[in-house]
Amino acid sequence: MTDSLLQSFQLKHLNLKNRILTTSHEPAYNEDGFPKDRYIAYHLERAKGGIAMTMTAGSAVVSKDSPPSFDNIHAYKDEVVPWIKKLTNTIHDQDCAIMIQLTHLGRRTTWNKGDWLPSISSGKHREPAHKAFPKIVEDWDIKRIIKEYGEAAERMKEGGMDGVELEGQGHLIGQFLSPLTNELDNEYGGSFKNRLRFALEVLSEIRKKVGEKFILGIRCVFDEVQEGGITKTEGFKIAKKLSDSGLIDYLNINRGRIHTDPILTKHIPILGMKSAPHLEFAGEIKKEVNVPIFHASKISDVATARYAISTGLVDMIGMTRGHLADPHIVTKIKEKRENDIRPCVGATYCLDRIYQGEEALCIHNAATGRELIFPNIITSSKIKKKIVIVGAGPGGLEAARIAGERGHNVVVFEAASDPGGQIRLCAKSEARKDMMGIIDWRIEQCTKKNVKFNFNVVAENHDVINEKPDTIIIATGGMPNLELFETKKDLENVFTCWDIISGDIKLSQNILIYDEAGDHTAMQAAEIAIKRGSTVEFMTPDRLIGSEIMGMNLTPYLKNLQNKKITYSIAKRLVNVSIQGNKLDTKIGSDYDELFKYHTSFDQVFLNYGVKPLDKLYFNLIPYSKNEGSVNYDKFIVGEKQDIVKNKNNKFDLYRIGDAVSSRNIHAAIYDALRLLINI
Ligand SMILES: Cc1cc2nc3c(=O)[nH]c(=O)nc-3n(C[C@H](O)[C@H](O)[C@H](O)COP(=O)(O)O)c2cc1C
Ligand code: SF4
Repeated sequence: MTDSLLQSFQLKHLNLKNRILTTSHEPAYNEDGFPKDRYIAYHLERAKGGIAMTMTAGSAVVSKDSPPSFDNIHAYKDEVVPWIKKLTNTIHDQDCAIMIQLTHLGRRTTWNKGDWLPSISSGKHREPAHKAFPKIVEDWDIKRIIKEYGEAAERMKEGGMDGVELEGQGHLIGQFLSPLTNELDNEYGGSFKNRLRFALEVLSEIRKKVGEKFILGIRCVFDEVQEGGITKTEGFKIAKKLSDSGLIDYLNINRGRIHTDPILTKHIPILGMKSAPHLEFAGEIKKEVNVPIFHASKISDVATARYAISTGLVDMIGMTRGHLADPHIVTKIKEKRENDIRPCVGATYCLDRIYQGEEALCIHNAATGRELIFPNIITSSKIKKKIVIVGAGPGGLEAARIAGERGHNVVVFEAASDPGGQIRLCAKSEARKDMMGIIDWRIEQCTKKNVKFNFNVVAENHDVINEKPDTIIIATGGMPNLELFETKKDLENVFTCWDIISGDIKLSQNILIYDEAGDHTAMQAAEIAIKRGSTVEFMTPDRLIGSEIMGMNLTPYLKNLQNKKITYSIAKRLVNVSIQGNKLDTKIGSDYDELFKYHTSFDQVFLNYGVKPLDKLYFNLIPYSKNEGSVNYDKFIVGEKQDIVKNKNNKFDLYRIGDAVSSRNIHAAIYDALRLLINI
């Protein structure tokens, strides 16, 4: 029997070869507002991987007064057309359908980008996430924008797109639709009919311009799950009206709102949150309407996607972040290699980055977004080598996986009894335990390639040299740093946040968590300490708490830390800790006022200031190595074979990666490994 996911689907005149698509997502790879080579290469990899359709653009902007806050494609410019043609030709060559999402962002943008035009909306309130106070749309804006939607759709048709989708959740169309964001007192505001008018007029205008043989869909919110907003009953009415209008070829079902980080995570859940939370809801809408249904929201595993299709809940299922993590999901399904799919662990490093104005990157697939340089499919090396890796954290395991795929003889030493390094620590919290997928997948891949693991070994020179390696990779990570900023010595009388997370220490009542790194570790420690009953002062010298944790990822911490037993102190610097009786006296200052100083006491003090590299073995091995540990950065950046020889009589090359070099993150460690090993 054919796998339901692999059955084709007839979308009007367009035959889709299976049921999996990537829904619209702006990776922010555009250059000058156009989808150039990097953008095309990204979508090409996913098309090659077998998806039936890619919905490109996050949302390409149709008007000048919709500043591209996510580096969106400029669909309002005629010059976009040749790039769209290049993109669509490339994707169609892979027998993959391609559409593009169009939008006017309304208030969901800023005014100080692009042409510095005021943002506009159907109401006066700013969107908390983007913070631009909009101008309330005037009649001439409405007429102009409807026309601009039509013109943008025409450009996309000229560029060879199979169709366009409108974004109707939280963007201008959604702002008109929702009673929460529509304050207009004309024919576009107030009643249900009036609020829907803008969407219908945009759809009619587009249909007029593009004709019938062009797919037109709308991604829309059908229940805002908020008092005063679009209710489920009204959402069903919207769905029916749109479907009965005869203007659209499918509905893409969204639920919830997107105007703040915490609310966004209800619509797009991150790790630790429920899988497929809106799938059954999408299925309920399907029963009400007579157009096909698309849906995506944390359907990251194939079993859930298959359930969605085989039970008829939806017609096309989106696995969007899933394909950022592994572009070849469909091929692996076809080849019955589902276990080889690199799992999307929901870390949402990808989406959080674009909200910070950066390009989308996957936390554990460093080739994503770098397809012009780095392949997803690793080829085998003609020359077989012996590669010894010390450390089985994410970087070490990525090195082992790639070296194994290259066909080398790979040996890994790990001091702990299990693999994972800092990820194992982070996965101690229930909400972050899915992070272990990063480790488990690599262990499984390494096992398939016969990588040999030696656990419980604190490797020394002779352990690795006795293996007669051609290359040694030091991926030993680091240990918590107790030497605070420019103090030149470790702070005494303190513990580290790792001590809280690991559960190694009995917590006292009144504790200070001092966070000079701003990353997950301190927040995670605070969460655990509060849960265990301590009273926490959370202090940082920064002007924000958790400054390195991005918006969606900060959400679960701030939810759990809405607790009377935690106080936050920003812009305060811990200067010293000394013992006073059975308490610790802390001396506090501030970078913002040199004269500001005070003392306060705690039972325990815990620090978070990144890690100090565990690099002793690396430095011990340098004299025996050919390259003295040095790296040719020009070659490293593009993943070419390293070529530095300093001691030609020595037998092995020596490199270190990840936190063993300097305190960074999982992506950096994995990217280091990819760049060093891909051509080894
Ligand atoms: C980097 C990134 C950018 C996104 N940008 C958009 C967008 O512009 N428009 C949109 O409708 N959805 C956008 N999304 C949401 C996705 O289309 C999808 O709904 C969401 O990722 C949930 O599906 P998933 O769990 O399969 O990833 C974006 C998602 C990601 C990861
Ligand atoms: S960063 Fe996380 S959520 Fe995003 S694709 Fe990668 S694994 Fe999935």
